[in-house]
Amino acid sequence: MAFSFTRQDFPEGFMFGAATAAYQIEGSKFGKCGSSHWDTWAATPGNVVGADDGSVACDHYHRYAEDLDIIKSGGFDAYRFSTSWARVMPDGKTINQDGLDYYDRLVDAITERGIKPNLTLYHWELPSAMADIGGWMNRETPLRFGDMTRAVIERIGDRVERVATINEPWCVAWLSHFLGGQAPGLRDIRAAMRAMHHIQLAHGTAMQVLRDHGQDNLGIVLNLGHGEPASQNADDIAATKTFDAIHTRWFMDSLFKGHYPKDMIDAVGQHMPDGYENDMDLISQPLDWLGINYYTRGIVKAAPEQPWPHMDGVEGPLPKTQMGWEIYPEGLEMLLKRIHAEYTFDLPLMVTENGMANDDTIENGRCDDPVRVKYFDDHLQAVLRCIADGVPMQGYFGWSLLDNYEWAFGYEKRFGLVHVDYETQVRTPKASFEAFRQAISTNR
Ligand code: FCB
Repeated sequence: MAFSFTRQDFPEGFMFGAATAAYQIEGSKFGKCGSSHWDTWAATPGNVVGADDGSVACDHYHRYAEDLDIIKSGGFDAYRFSTSWARVMPDGKTINQDGLDYYDRLVDAITERGIKPNLTLYHWELPSAMADIGGWMNRETPLRFGDMTRAVIERIGDRVERVATINEPWCVAWLSHFLGGQAPGLRDIRAAMRAMHHIQLAHGTAMQVLRDHGQDNLGIVLNLGHGEPASQNADDIAATKTFDAIHTRWFMDSLFKGHYPKDMIDAVGQHMPDGYENDMDLISQPLDWLGINYYTRGIVKAAPEQPWPHMDGVEGPLPKTQMGWEIYPEGLEMLLKRIHAEYTFDLPLMVTENGMANDDTIENGRCDDPVRVKYFDDHLQAVLRCIADGVPMQGYFGWSLLDNYEWAFGYEKRFGLVHVDYETQVRTPKASFEAFRQAISTNR
């Protein structure tokens, strides 16, 4: 099965990449890595399917060379990876030389293969020592994150192509402190609002450290929400506006306009940390690019009987992935066009994650994943329509290079372009990987 496009259909210089994140692949028990809130949250019954954790994961810590060879063989231009704070600073503040040495080796191995390293500084491994002081609820955490940023960038900043500060602040703050879906698994509006601000402050703090260091090509990776009302009644439309404030405007307004959305501050501003207004200049520093992660849409209905945000999600009618997420490429197109028109204008945009989970199996040494081939194809066609309409798209990263630790869902959900047998650690590129190779490896 092949894609309906090739590299030639994209503008010159458009980057094709594959993405991963440290905790999901490295193996947190290797290399004197410290404990993170993911290790402890996973060790608590009921939080993670199968009580799986990232202690071994894909053993990428030892097998990175093989994995980078795979990326190269697919013809990808770039690799998006992340640094684990708990590996770099096991107690949240003291540098683990083994950790920095590892990222140093990794970046060398990426560049040696002619691949562009795209670094994400924080993809969720909060050191347990930082969790002990309240994690993202405490203003100290963003300040310490600045120190982590400095340590990483002083060591590998000379070789990375671009840097993202934070992966998916909505997940760090809202999903983890209001919906309870990820570590630390809280369900508390005050905790959530503090985290919603402090994660933005962590971004701003890191930006300042990076700029002071002379680092360029800086951005952030957001999982903005494309929400649609369950019906055309006024309450559902109003609830969708609130969904939009929580998922999209909170982040876009603060980054690009220097303030938080008024409807949210009116509703829950009393839970914000004192003096948050003074941080807005730091948070809204100019970016060089914006990364957007997209998987599905949200369908929103009003829940007036519940406390704010007075809304619920509804299951949609479209075909779904192994995650139960609807396949809806049109949502990516609408989201990118809206962000371009309302906020970012000439700023380059990248799809920094897009992909789907599937119950993939190996048969006769092959892993066929035709639904994923079509998923990628349809979403890349959506990107092409954006480009045709003048959206300055700069790249696209498939999630994920490897099957990996899918957070609260453990190892059951397979997102990889490459199948991983967790018993043997054998890697088998799937048909979707081959489709990428055919479409992009020529005329690189
Ligand atoms: C995103 C995360 C990534 C992965 C995908 C499926 O929210 O950034 O680590 O889990 O979802």
